[in-house]
Amino acid sequence: MIEAVMVGAGQRGHHIYGRWALANRDRLRFVAVADPSAERRRRFGEAHGISDRDRYPDPFALLDSKRAEAAVIASPDREHHTHVLAALRAGYHVLAEKPMAHTLESCFEIVAASRQSTGTLHIGHVLRFSPFFQALHEVIASGRLGDIVTVEHRENVVAWHMAHSYVRGNWSQRATSPPMVVAKATHDFDILHWNLASPAQTISSVGNLYEFRPERAPADSTERCTDPCPVEDCPYDARRVYLNPAVTGWPVHVITDDFSPEGRLRALQEGPYGRCAWKCGSDVVDHQVVNLSFESGASAGLTVHGHSPEEGRTMRYDGTRATLRGRFGRHQELTIHSHVSGEIEEVPIPPVASGHGGGDAGIIEAFLDSIEHGKPPATSARESIESHLLAFLAEEARLEGKVIDVTTRRRLGNDLNSDFDTGEGDTADGT
Ligand SMILES: NC(=O)c1ccc[n+]([C@@H]2O[C@H](COP(=O)([O-])OP(=O)(O)OC[C@H]3O[C@@H](n4cnc5c(N)ncnc54)[C@H](O)[C@@H]3O)[C@@H](O)[C@H]2O)c1
Repeated sequence: MIEAVMVGAGQRGHHIYGRWALANRDRLRFVAVADPSAERRRRFGEAHGISDRDRYPDPFALLDSKRAEAAVIASPDREHHTHVLAALRAGYHVLAEKPMAHTLESCFEIVAASRQSTGTLHIGHVLRFSPFFQALHEVIASGRLGDIVTVEHRENVVAWHMAHSYVRGNWSQRATSPPMVVAKATHDFDILHWNLASPAQTISSVGNLYEFRPERAPADSTERCTDPCPVEDCPYDARRVYLNPAVTGWPVHVITDDFSPEGRLRALQEGPYGRCAWKCGSDVVDHQVVNLSFESGASAGLTVHGHSPEEGRTMRYDGTRATLRGRFGRHQELTIHSHVSGEIEEVPIPPVASGHGGGDAGIIEAFLDSIEHGKPPATSARESIESHLLAFLAEEARLEGKVIDVTTRRRLGNDLNSDFDTGEGDTADGT
């Protein structure tokens, strides 16, 4: 059984990692928590039997000394950088939520720092640990598709989730959060990087905020959905999502801890999640398309957008011998279509219970296995820097309308942080 500390006891910290620990008491126990919110500290502390003394408002007061073997960093994106560096300095084994950090420079700094730490660093690329993406990876690695020539990968965010996270919620303002292509699509760049097994060479991107602007608001729309708003059949009507009594988990637990009809309504009337989606002042994109070339000669297109009727990722890998099509979401499908026989084979995917198609539970288990058996992290900082590099460069390419030479920028990032390198090669980070 591994003892751990929690930094950031919110949606991920409390509801995902915390709950997993409570359901698997023989594997993981949280012994301290840090969160500036007194309510979040109380909630997490009570759930895990953590005394008042071990509930910290200041994360550094907890992280600066090694209080347990492991640390889970589930604080907001902008805090990851300093929290991860502090935890590595103290020698914790760290499981840090993605993105690693909110700037590319900070990500490279974390890679360098992870080489010097006695603890390991695992980045929360949960999808790699889902049975679906493991099955997909096995097909590609087996060579059954031949050489991969093109990939189309789409992240289709359902319209109300777009409104929840990127219009009304945590990731709606450029000034306070990383762009959507970083916050959401580092997972997708990680999947491409893992499967193509070839460094990206160039990247370009287009995209904009198409929908969520005041000039696109219906004429009679009000400031809040609860005013009440007369617009019928609105795809972003907050009442439909948050007042639905059948929904008792995410996303309702993000807006309130009081699940009563009155508690939910109050949150919509007073908090950010009841605001009209067209009038929130969101300044981040609602769709972005990225084109990539790889050293192998393969080309890939990645689309992330928030105008889908259904949440999920869809993908197609065209190889020289067969094509693989995938659908990852509520319904999961993976098929191989042979260029030789024309036959279509369905790849079996084991059923899963936990979030992110089983990836949430999978990454926790992999993290604990790594500590217990000294296995190197599959999603180490060094492995994960590529997805972050591509995501940040995609945004730069979009903003500046240019094609970026990824090879040069990769080298530059590594060179700038070479001072951190001990010269002892890859040690604790494992790759
Ligand atoms: N791996 C995934 O697929 C995945 C999915 C969703 C979110 N995330 C990431 O997980 C992280 C947490 O997201 P969330 O949805 O739980 O957000 P959240 O807002 O629900 O939780 C964040 C918590 O951190 C606390 N906090 C704020 N400032 C802090 C500080 N300085 N030190 C410590 N704690 C602080 C907040 O009070 C809150 O309790 C984010 O980085 C997010 O991008 C990852």
